[in-house]
Amino acid sequence: MSPRRYAQIVGWGKALPARSMHNREFESLVDTSDEWIRTRTGIVERRVAGEGETTTSLAIAAARQAIAVADIDPRRIDLILVATCTADRLLPGAAPIVQQALGATSSGAVDMNAACAGFMYALVTANGLIASGTHRRILVVGADTLTRWMDWKDRRVSILFGDGAGAVLLEASDLPTGLFASVLRADGSGADLLHVPAGGTACLPTNDTLARGAHYIQMDGPAVFRFAVQIIVDSTREVLDAAHLTVEDVDLFVPHQANRRIIDAAVRTLELPSDRVFINLDRYGNTSAASIPIALTEAIEGGRLHPGDNILMSGFGAGLTWGTALFQWGVPQRVPATMPWQTVVHQGLTERAARALSVARRALAIADRA
Ligand code: UT7
Repeated sequence: MSPRRYAQIVGWGKALPARSMHNREFESLVDTSDEWIRTRTGIVERRVAGEGETTTSLAIAAARQAIAVADIDPRRIDLILVATCTADRLLPGAAPIVQQALGATSSGAVDMNAACAGFMYALVTANGLIASGTHRRILVVGADTLTRWMDWKDRRVSILFGDGAGAVLLEASDLPTGLFASVLRADGSGADLLHVPAGGTACLPTNDTLARGAHYIQMDGPAVFRFAVQIIVDSTREVLDAAHLTVEDVDLFVPHQANRRIIDAAVRTLELPSDRVFINLDRYGNTSAASIPIALTEAIEGGRLHPGDNILMSGFGAGLTWGTALFQWGVPQRVPATMPWQTVVHQGLTERAARALSVARRALAIADRA
């Protein structure tokens, strides 16, 4: 029997535009207030892409960090999946631009558009490809610049979104950790609840569509709100059941960062302690497909993940689409084959485990080179 392949996250990174926009700036644009935005959404500020900053420039910056953390040669990446609904151009997709910039010359590259749920779709897909044995290293990027499609005068939408990118590098491993259970779902009957009416092939951009603002995001906020709370709760229960775990087993919940009240309502129903929920939407707003990998990166960098921890991730968005997954964290960070075990101990493993890991990594490195 061939060994089961598990997908480990061995690299991570994030990139955000330089310009930060505080809630107060909206007070001069529309009839709103810092107080309203904070209390109804939890958002305080967001990053907005400026001139020269695009979905792919952010994606490339996040991906470079993930590759540096993983300490691998980009030519060894087999596939790049970019989750985005705001590629720089209609054609080509964002992924080949990212592939070229990274010098990932042996890699395939394709976009996945599931709007804000895109990262979850790409992560689950990448996990399946690694588990099947067809791919060894897959870069998964979530990147969006939704502010480019926003009517700044529409207070129901403009206060919510921000721009950014996050990336993880998955690598095949025999260590039995990684993605244990997942749910990917869609309900196209809700397509009009969150959409951009014009600019696609069904409604080409014209002077008229521009004049009507039909190229801007339209959203039924309260309907999306209700849908989001429901699917987080239902899909979390389904995933936990499939993994034979309970809410008590979840060490960290990294939800799509759309609205603090959505997250709070879902977490209350699930009876998940609030100190096990990762929130950064106060600083970035809703960054669409980038929100989960950015949050995950900050959770890792903040020391919130430990070997063996169960991480629950849940994303939802236009489509309607959603995806929830339970990921068991493997090693704390990539340990170069040459790193002595004494150093590894400082990264949180017991001495015995660290010695064994060092030996195993050396053996793998030798086998890899052979
Ligand atoms: O990735 C998925 C993306 N989308 C989402 O996650 C969106 C989910 N929905 C939401 O986050 C919330 O529905 C919003 C934040 C968009 C809106 O909050 P809400 O508590 O659902 O407000 P509402 O739409 O029910 O509106 C309540 C009132 C309305 O005024 P009236 O009709 O009661 O007089 C709105 O016109 O609040 C008004 N309003 C605002 N007032 C001040 C709506 N937006 C604003 C605003 N500032 N920015």
